[in-house]
Amino acid sequence: MHTRDAAKESANGSDLLDIDSLSVRFQREGSSLQAVSEVSLSLSSGDVLGIVGESGSGKSTLARAILRLLPRNAHVSGEIRLEGRELLSCSDREFRRLRWAQISMVVQDAMNALDPVWRVRDQLLEAIRVHGTVGRRDGKDRAASLIEMVGLDEHVLSRYPHELSGGMRQRVCIAMAFACNPRLVLADEPTTALDVITQDRIVAEILELQVKRDQTMIFISHDIALISEVSHKIGVMYAGHLVEMGTVGQILYEPSHPYTMGLLNAFPRADIDHEVVSIPGDPARFEAITESCPFIERCPFSQPVCREHKPRPQEVTPGHWAACHFLDVAPTLRERAKDPLTWRPANVKATIREPQPSSSAKERSAA
Ligand SMILES: Nc1ncnc2c1ncn2[C@@H]1O[C@H](COP(=O)(O)OP(=O)(O)OP(=O)(O)O)[C@@H](O)[C@H]1O
Ligand code: SF4
Ligand SMILES: [Mg+2]
Repeated sequence: MHTRDAAKESANGSDLLDIDSLSVRFQREGSSLQAVSEVSLSLSSGDVLGIVGESGSGKSTLARAILRLLPRNAHVSGEIRLEGRELLSCSDREFRRLRWAQISMVVQDAMNALDPVWRVRDQLLEAIRVHGTVGRRDGKDRAASLIEMVGLDEHVLSRYPHELSGGMRQRVCIAMAFACNPRLVLADEPTTALDVITQDRIVAEILELQVKRDQTMIFISHDIALISEVSHKIGVMYAGHLVEMGTVGQILYEPSHPYTMGLLNAFPRADIDHEVVSIPGDPARFEAITESCPFIERCPFSQPVCREHKPRPQEVTPGHWAACHFLDVAPTLRERAKDPLTWRPANVKATIREPQPSSSAKERSAA
């Protein structure tokens, strides 16, 4: 794993995207599920934020909420501002104008994202025209240059999606997402369905486009190694909560939330020699999270205070925050988290004596 562009990590421009207390609750027959819980974050122009977390942690729901692509059974609250404009409250008509032109998305399954009865050229032209009036000739030229930009031959333009390989379809989706030079691109597991070699090539192409255009992106994956290659900042999601956020360096080398520590242990790393150890137990049942810490059932450092009070996000160092009652002793926890014995199921279940929460942690959690 390596970190991108150290200068970018400390860059601090004006906010392009501001998400404030975003929550998504799915209404199901006889029950409901809180898939995203009070997520707040902000991104500056040109930032790439990687969102990482286990399957079902709410990553796609967060992206779909930003693009207003959630089904009717989703209740969304909070605020999402793109360059100051509130997205959740603008009319459907207004939002349709923003989609593709200002915010676009590359999804995991390109086959579902493309219209099977339209040729690639027509799909690209449709995306280009959303941006404004583009003449027929100009539109065709733009479609050709977009397809070339993602490394495909011009003859692909006259093909239907089912005539293309998975990698080619994914490239068409990337071309569509970048077609109108939107302010924000969301990439939700854009390479997961592809073989490793095609994955690498497509990630490299996305990064080239990002750098060339200084594109702001949210890149979603469950693979922290991939996320750390493509991103400037990383947000870690657990059971619908954004539990830690920081620059790539801060998350990789100074993780402060026990879940992030466990997640880093669970992946092989090129930069650090360590034993791969997974986090015992299953991801939290969303229904079970009320006022306790969402990670309590799997955390080896839990204390009674973690059951009584949900920790709120607090700053660790500038640009780095986490939601845990024990941030004051994070360096000690980091050392202990490196020991595979710490993650033995029996140790995770036991309530350990140390570290005791500092009085300031108790006060903050009680506040
Ligand atoms: N339309 C829906 N109705 C009800 N529940 C849903 C709906 N869509 C998602 N969920 C639930 O919301 C939770 C979060 O799902 P989401 O797809 O956002 O997770 P994810 O982190 O993207 O997972 P993955 O890594 O597998 O893609 C899951 O428990 C999922 O079952
Ligand atoms: S608040 Fe408690 S249970 Fe939650 S991550 Fe921190 S130590 Fe673990
Ligand atoms: Mg997903």
